[in-house]
Amino acid sequence: MLTLTQPDDWHLHLRDGISMTSIIPATSRCFARALVMPNLKPPITTCAQALDYRKRICAATAPTSHFNPLMTLYLTDNTPIAEIAKAKDSTHIMGVKYYPAGATTHSEAGVTDLRRVWTILEAMQTYELPLSIHGEVTATSIDIFDREKIFIEQILDPLLDDFPKLRVVLEHITTLEAVEYVFSKNHHLAATITAHHLLMNRNELFNGGIRPHHYCLPVLKRESHRQALLMAATSGNPKFFLGTDSAPHAVGAKESACGCAGIYTAPAALELYAEAFEQVQALDKLEGFASFYGADFYRLPRNTETVTLEKRTWQMPPDFDFGKEKVVPLRAGANIYWQQVQT
Ligand code: DOR
Ligand code: ZN
Repeated sequence: MLTLTQPDDWHLHLRDGISMTSIIPATSRCFARALVMPNLKPPITTCAQALDYRKRICAATAPTSHFNPLMTLYLTDNTPIAEIAKAKDSTHIMGVKYYPAGATTHSEAGVTDLRRVWTILEAMQTYELPLSIHGEVTATSIDIFDREKIFIEQILDPLLDDFPKLRVVLEHITTLEAVEYVFSKNHHLAATITAHHLLMNRNELFNGGIRPHHYCLPVLKRESHRQALLMAATSGNPKFFLGTDSAPHAVGAKESACGCAGIYTAPAALELYAEAFEQVQALDKLEGFASFYGADFYRLPRNTETVTLEKRTWQMPPDFDFGKEKVVPLRAGANIYWQQVQT
């Protein structure tokens, strides 16, 4: 048995409408709060839209649940400065998400050049409003496995030189270079790590054939990078904390000639993290990573309830309802080795 302070998910895709309604319980069964990504179509670019979206999430959440969705704004070349002031005053909006235009799912409206959002970044630094970053360059000339590393060298490092007090979360890091970079910087820079990047290397994309349900962005990397991520997550350093990047897509959108990026881990998220931490005998470090450091970074109180996991093998269902369609989770039809004890 493993009892932890209730965790939070600091990077989650909930989608919208009836698809959203069917997947909220997978997260709210375990996590007290989640930082909800704004890459809807059209994107959530204003505080009014974020608060409306939050209302829809709350309306779709079971009345008995205490799940608290926290919101982000989608940064565009044209984000009005007034939205930043409003976001800072909102208890429900925790930060702004920077997608380089074209980097990933629904990022077409993202930032084309950071110089276009300079005054926004200045305001965010002044207000201490966190910037969540999808850290990949988009040039097709750059190898997909190098996009995070090059982003750090060419975009992030100069950005942090120009804005040394900007509070930044480098989201879903995947490389040794990202781990080393985050360790090397001050407490204004933190990173989230997903369960799938802790458990899988890039061989899992091609294991016996092409595996669309293992495709996400940033793409899985080689084993040495996975080992670096495991070391960071279990280091006890508060700059690294839990963000699942659970990103459901309808089965047809994944199993396609041009399948979407995104791995749906919510149905066993904490259980998968426990499995990864157990691999390196570091279950004692899970609570800090899952339940303390993210709340501390976002300057929110730590949760007071607990959740309990049991070491018990169960089988992940092959799929789940996703509105009128189906979504295939990570480990579909295969074993999960920890199970949350239902209360
Ligand atoms: O794999 C991913 N899926 N990476 C992202 O950055 C976006 C996400 C999604 O929204 O599906
Ligand atoms: Zn994401």
